[in-house]
Amino acid sequence: MDFRSYISGQDVRVPTITGERAYCSLDNAASTPPLVAVMEAVDQFMPWYSSVHRGSGFKSRVSTELYEAAHRAVGEFVGADPTEFTVIFGKNTTEAINKLSYRLNLRKKDIVLISHLEHHSNDLPWRATASVRRIDMAPDGGIDTKHFEALLAKYGQRIKLVAITGASNVTGHIPDIHWFARKAHEHGAQIFVDCAQLAAHRPIRMGQLNEPEHLDYIAISGHKMYAPFGCGALIGRREVFARGQPEYSGGGTVAYVTPQTVDWAVPPDSDEAGSPNVVGAVALMVAVQTLQKIGLDTIAAHEAALTSYALTQLKTIPGLMLYGDSNPARASSRSGVIPFTLKDIPAQLVAAVLGYEWGVGVRSGCFCAHPYVMSLLGMSHADAQHVRYNILHRRRDLVPGMVRVSFGMYNSPADVDVLVEALRAIVNGRYTPYQVDKATGVFSPEREDDFVVSSFLKPIIKVK
Ligand code: ALA
Repeated sequence: MDFRSYISGQDVRVPTITGERAYCSLDNAASTPPLVAVMEAVDQFMPWYSSVHRGSGFKSRVSTELYEAAHRAVGEFVGADPTEFTVIFGKNTTEAINKLSYRLNLRKKDIVLISHLEHHSNDLPWRATASVRRIDMAPDGGIDTKHFEALLAKYGQRIKLVAITGASNVTGHIPDIHWFARKAHEHGAQIFVDCAQLAAHRPIRMGQLNEPEHLDYIAISGHKMYAPFGCGALIGRREVFARGQPEYSGGGTVAYVTPQTVDWAVPPDSDEAGSPNVVGAVALMVAVQTLQKIGLDTIAAHEAALTSYALTQLKTIPGLMLYGDSNPARASSRSGVIPFTLKDIPAQLVAAVLGYEWGVGVRSGCFCAHPYVMSLLGMSHADAQHVRYNILHRRRDLVPGMVRVSFGMYNSPADVDVLVEALRAIVNGRYTPYQVDKATGVFSPEREDDFVVSSFLKPIIKVK
């Protein structure tokens, strides 16, 4: 299948120290480019755009209908029965988790079990609203299931929620979320799965509430699903959002208001305060429909083959250390997110050389998952405190980290070949001199003048 033809911007070339190159985007765990179908739909929709829910004009009716269709499409995409679940649009997964942490009405005596693998967005909101207990990391970088069961037994009914990732943004580890769901339900807890890194790579099925392995809540982000128009979704048990007060109130969230009383609207309206992001919702609708048309199983198979190839090739580079499960034969049981270090070369430097000299886009650092990355790097509690000291003292250049490549469906073995060629050059010291900003830890070529992004922006977008 020609996956690339589905993606916008594939012909873009970028300036590098070695001349102009085709851009090689290996940072899809952070954000994906838009689908061509999404761009076309947004373009087609704009002349029809108008107010949602409140207008009587024809354009308002078109916008309202599309906005509601987007809710249905996203619900269908994740197998959520609309009588049991509601789809609430917001900015992204982070916002969705913050909303859920508020809406579950937790108290400090309630426990939320999270795994050690979590992105900060699936950790900090729970710390703020309940008591968090962490499930240990297993030796292969996955979730220690024995420790999970021990915590369930230890805390029993105090555990209100198990909040785990659907796919790690650091190692690509994919836990068996339905096994975790069954265990959580057996102990009277509910489960939330952060699907930010899963939704564009694997089919998701929330299931019926009477099934022991159903998911109670999930969150997704459009910008990681080829629809970067600022819309994500929280999908969860309808009854939870039908009671109590939303964390943001105001226009659109109510059925009726008097000077003394408020009757809240039914979900999702209760939880979508203010004028919604209709364009983002339409973009997300078209993205999920296109992903379904291509087939999530087809995408998963392609990305697994690519991940297997990448792991095999990366292992041939001397001094390259892979983290998590690096067995190419098991690529189909994880996602295409691969973290590594290269000898003692700072991760930020490796990432800078890839960008400035090879036109390869990756992410480096700790990927908003500091505890997990520190553990993967084998750092002790004392080491982690030292890292904290350096960050607080504006010495990010001393902070350890990893380089991360992450595939989207449009990546190909040719992208892996460019990456591997580049890493081979870097490990052999073949790169231009760089300087580091000690406070930010960011590396840039000593002769950066020709590569200042703002000067390159002028012909792209008229920035005044
Ligand atoms: N959480 C996103 C990432 O891992 C931003 O890059």
